[in-house]
Amino acid sequence: MNIAEVKHQALADVSNAANPAELEQARVSLLGRKGTLTELLRSLKDTPKEHRPRVGREINIAKTEIEEAISLRREALEKAARDAAAHASIDVTLPGRSRHRGSLHPVTQTFSTIEEIFVRAGYEVVYGPEIEDDYHNFEALNIPKHHPARAMHDTFYLGDGRLLRTHTSPVQVRTMETQSPPIRIICPGRVYRRDFDRTHTPMFHQVEGLVVDRGISFADLKGTVISFVHAFFEREVEVRFRPSYFPFTEPSAEVDVMSEQGWSEVMGCGVVHPKVLSMSGIDPKQFSGFAFGFGVDRLAMVKFGVSDLRILFDNDIRFLRQFG
Ligand code: DAH
Repeated sequence: MNIAEVKHQALADVSNAANPAELEQARVSLLGRKGTLTELLRSLKDTPKEHRPRVGREINIAKTEIEEAISLRREALEKAARDAAAHASIDVTLPGRSRHRGSLHPVTQTFSTIEEIFVRAGYEVVYGPEIEDDYHNFEALNIPKHHPARAMHDTFYLGDGRLLRTHTSPVQVRTMETQSPPIRIICPGRVYRRDFDRTHTPMFHQVEGLVVDRGISFADLKGTVISFVHAFFEREVEVRFRPSYFPFTEPSAEVDVMSEQGWSEVMGCGVVHPKVLSMSGIDPKQFSGFAFGFGVDRLAMVKFGVSDLRILFDNDIRFLRQFG
């Protein structure tokens, strides 16, 4: 056989090897001690001297090509063997491994929904401190010392004159002190009261709203509250305004919404008291405003049909998983 024939046959044998053992056989019969190519090299001594360098070079080139083909074939066969083994060890009847997906807490979701609705309506979101002073939490909201409304607040006092804010209304004051009208804000945050039962927790969440501009009336307040409630519950739930009393608004109202649980009180609101405006440096002859404050947890309870407020703060994973 000449070199070309040997090479042709060798490459065919290599590519026909169906497994590593067959490939090894082919390698031995080509390159082993008695292999075809080895024989060919050995026969070089019978080649006329003047042809030896050329024939030798040709044999070596063929040898290199065959070696490369063997090593490529070996890699391919090994990979196929690995894939087959992996496939055999996968039991496709086993249930899949599911991922644990976290989700936002229902109160966080409720905050986001509320903020989205008001931001879309042009409100700015502002924050205030949870540790407040008596002036911003009470005095500037027309709740002087010994005012009976203070008793309703069950305040946590810190002993140094400061206190944990009992509502988000002090953020109204802080905003009016630093901004001039038109003002259109909501103030989300935590508030604290010494209270604990099915519908009260010592820490809960409120969102305060304040609009101050020229010619703002109770009609603006009513339209805003109704639009908000409908947007929040994503349907035209029944809304009821009941006359009420807050020292910082006049007139004042409480707002109830109808659900499967009947009427639920969700917020207080009113037209900002002229004294509250002037105490924070806004002229009540030029400007008027409305304000509202609602319990975020209350709204979440009504929306999600939760009957005990405390479950929102237990962090029971079985409860929280339902809000994924
Ligand atoms: N601050 C009141 C509370 O915590 C809620 C409230 C009522 C806020 C009337 C207001 C308002 O801004 O106008 O019970």
